[in-house]
Amino acid sequence: MRVLHLAAEIYPLVKTGGLADVVAALPAALAARGLDTRVLVPGMPGILSGVVGLKRVVRIGPAFGAAIITLRLGRLPDSGVPVYVIDAPFLYRRDGSPYLGPDGRDWNDNHRRFALLGWIAAHLASGELDRNWRPDVVHAHDWHAGLAPAYIAQNPALNTATVFTIHNLAFRGLFPLDHHNDLGLLISGADQSALEFHGQLSFMKAALVHAKRVNAVSPTYAQEICLPEFGWGLDGLLRDRGSDLSGILNGVDYLVWNPQTDPALAKNYDHDDLRGKDACKAKLQSELGFARRAKAPLFAVVSRLTAQKGMDLILGALPAILAEGGQLVVIGSGEAEIEAAYRAAAAEYPENVSVHLGYDDAFSHRIMAGADVLLVPSRFEPCGLTQLYALRYGTLPLVRRVGGLADTVIDATPESLQAGTANGFVFVDANSRALAARIADACALYRDGTAWRLVQKRGMLQDYSWADSAVRYEALYRSI
Ligand code: ADP
Ligand code: GLC
Repeated sequence: MRVLHLAAEIYPLVKTGGLADVVAALPAALAARGLDTRVLVPGMPGILSGVVGLKRVVRIGPAFGAAIITLRLGRLPDSGVPVYVIDAPFLYRRDGSPYLGPDGRDWNDNHRRFALLGWIAAHLASGELDRNWRPDVVHAHDWHAGLAPAYIAQNPALNTATVFTIHNLAFRGLFPLDHHNDLGLLISGADQSALEFHGQLSFMKAALVHAKRVNAVSPTYAQEICLPEFGWGLDGLLRDRGSDLSGILNGVDYLVWNPQTDPALAKNYDHDDLRGKDACKAKLQSELGFARRAKAPLFAVVSRLTAQKGMDLILGALPAILAEGGQLVVIGSGEAEIEAAYRAAAAEYPENVSVHLGYDDAFSHRIMAGADVLLVPSRFEPCGLTQLYALRYGTLPLVRRVGGLADTVIDATPESLQAGTANGFVFVDANSRALAARIADACALYRDGTAWRLVQKRGMLQDYSWADSAVRYEALYRSI
């Protein structure tokens, strides 16, 4: 079975979040199961320089405003998974974020930049672009790839199976309706409702209507998005898809996230011998300029600094961390107001709060290893990967009970501790008070070293590798 994945990001070449991690790891896991898997990505600078052995497949164009488009084929550096790269200099050779210009706003031709991604996938599906390889399944990720199922459905000669994965429904790919003139889609009359969302064009809606199967990145999120509270106006449509909608939990790439082998760490360690983790904590504390207090519970955030992630709730709960003698390290970037508030907190408590605004992969690994607790108090969370990374690093996740967080973290209560199932801490109400209460509970357990070690080791031994999820995706492909 030949499967083509398409997305805007792929780790480690272009990444703004967990989408990139998934798009690198899932195709490799499917390939390991014997599926003939390829990936299609736009030729952003990081991709053109990072994909190895690029060779020209075909030259196309002009289209979507680009005079020249060259489809190239190479391989991902680590896994060797074949990758098609759309080399369209006019559309993609832009430094920085894949979505935003230097002014921090969406590029004004994003509809063309990402329509081309879907359009190329549809033409690979029809066999027109590569005589040597034609996918049976086209698997599109998030709104950037959302027009692929629409272009495929529009071609009556194609019976390609299409799967669309929702990584985050909040980003619906909205554009002025008249932009459809640029996209070569038939959206007059009855077709219009399949793309139109309250007077705008939505790439996300196009995918949800046209894909043969839709899935979300966790079972709980698949249920939540059918409710108005989490549905962003698309919940009715998702309810109508009935059993075409499912939830498949993301996995972890343990080649990248493994404290036994992680080259970013001061000392490697595993569940049998956590002394390396203590060394990582001491090193992190001195790197941050914190007092080196081995017994101070060290809380961490590795996240986009946005309201989705509940980052404002942590600011409100900061007094609870400090009152417990705790420390907080934050790495992330996002909304200006939240960034400013974190900067102010770090200035006020330099010995116990350290904030790094920006993106730093190696530093995120050192934090994951050196911290005691990872805070993920999201308002909504389709899956969340950092809590899974934390588990493997012996860092207990403290999360809000939503989406994939609810599916992966088992709250430490007297009962679950007794039963030996607890692997972290969970709170329910989206407010700082509820978070602060759970922080205090985490500190109490932390002081009971023996109980803490048991929970830590249990989390480290849990297996969230991609193998199980790849089985589920394969079954989904076979069902269509
Ligand atoms: P989302 O995709 O919603 O941002 P996930 O938990 O699925 O959330 O994935 C976030 C990914 O981005 C993880 O791999 C995490 O380690 C990484 N990450 C987030 N912020 C940073 C940062 N500032 N520096 C380095 N890595 C980061
Ligand atoms: C999105 C979601 C996150 C998920 C990631 C990968 O960015 O916000 O919860 O883990 O996609 O699927």
